[in-house]
Amino acid sequence: MAHAPTSEFKNPVINWIDQRLPVFTMLNKEYGVFPTPRNFNYFWNFGALAMVILAVMIVSGIVLAMNYTAHTAYAFDSVERIMRDVNFGWLIRYLHMNGAHMFFFVVYIHIFRGFLYGSYKTPRELLWMLGVVIFLLMMATAFMGYVLPWGQMSFWGATVITNLFSAVPVFGDEIVTLLWGGFSVDNPTLNRFFALHYLLPFVIVAVVFLHVAALHITGSNNPLGIEPKGPQDTLPFHPYYTTKDMFGMGLFLIFFAAFVFFAPNALGHPDNYIPADPLVTPALIVPEWYFLPFYAILRAVTFNIGLPFSDVILIDAKLGGVIAMFGSILIWFLMPWLDKSPVRSYKFRPIYRWWIWLLPLSFFMLLYAGAKPAEGWYVLLGQAGTVLYFLWFLALPIISRIERPLPLPASISQPVLGGGRLAATGAAAKPMEKA
Ligand code: HEM
Repeated sequence: MAHAPTSEFKNPVINWIDQRLPVFTMLNKEYGVFPTPRNFNYFWNFGALAMVILAVMIVSGIVLAMNYTAHTAYAFDSVERIMRDVNFGWLIRYLHMNGAHMFFFVVYIHIFRGFLYGSYKTPRELLWMLGVVIFLLMMATAFMGYVLPWGQMSFWGATVITNLFSAVPVFGDEIVTLLWGGFSVDNPTLNRFFALHYLLPFVIVAVVFLHVAALHITGSNNPLGIEPKGPQDTLPFHPYYTTKDMFGMGLFLIFFAAFVFFAPNALGHPDNYIPADPLVTPALIVPEWYFLPFYAILRAVTFNIGLPFSDVILIDAKLGGVIAMFGSILIWFLMPWLDKSPVRSYKFRPIYRWWIWLLPLSFFMLLYAGAKPAEGWYVLLGQAGTVLYFLWFLALPIISRIERPLPLPASISQPVLGGGRLAATGAAAKPMEKA
């Protein structure tokens, strides 16, 4: 034997497996005794919730795929058949449909937690950036999934968004033809979107694995934003946070079930119950709520950008909108370098603790503007929201320079336990007993 067996689980079967493949040692290390800051608030439930929904989405999606036909002539009817004739098809579909809304809702809160408590700061930059990659993958997956029922909004949403790529200089039209698999959104488009919509969630699973692996290298941040100084500042993940996560999950599942069973179509657009018709454009083409802020940024650029005092156009309005829309998410990658403050948590940052609220304000301004027709004062609202949104990020280097942070507590336990007395009595973190 290359390694001496080290497992000492009470259950002989577990022991037998673990000596040959130490999965239980790994699980116990990462999810059992794993030292976790003792002061988590409920914001720290949302990563685990996102994982649960990801699993719900994959399982429900696979069952839907067993009954779905990716062809423009059958897609809409195959979904109606799932709703009416497949056993519990309505439940599977409503879980998947509403699950997408829940996924974005949960992940937005998860991201906002990062902004509040500076979880993107050193040493967690890569963990944060992997999160941004996950979010981009989620957007692509949700966009392509929405096309599959082949309703009016599916078709026209796909047409508007794929057309954006024509703004890319030089290769724009070629990219759009490649996306479409032809010269309009049609059967080849539906087929490739279905293939990618099935594939991408598994890519998300892989990136989530790296995300959590990176988290377990650095350890979690916490509401005070200071590193644990010793065992008095941490608790073993199990049973303390497994229990807290289960409680949060119970509440969340009630919320989720309320939509699935009592208002399954409340978050969707009624036009998607009309079969796709390339000859009839809906009065207003709007994406799902979770894309609205980015849609508003896309539409906020209504002017060409050119050389001053000449007719030369450098960036036309369409390309400008596309750059602003993608830029609004790509700028998240830069957070660790834009926000230079040495203090993580907003609680100890006199300016940032006010500034932070302008981010959700701009988000909701944009969300509202994105849901309305691009006319009149809605355009101005979208433009004001866009300016506020980008200003929020670009002002961070200045804020971090002029701000004088408040003194930080000496340790996580100090404000509550008076400086780690419990550590001395041995009453703090006790590792979980092995199975
Ligand atoms: C499928 C989507 C995602 C899943 C399943 C997921 C999962 C998790 C889990 C389980 C944790 C540890 C528990 C917690 O701190 O809540 C975590 C932490 C974290 N996640 Fe995510 N995540 C996702 C998306 C994102 C995104 C989009 C971002 C940022 C753009 C992000 C940034 C972070 C950060 C910075 C942490 C460390 C937080 C801290 O320690 O304070 N995650 N994630």
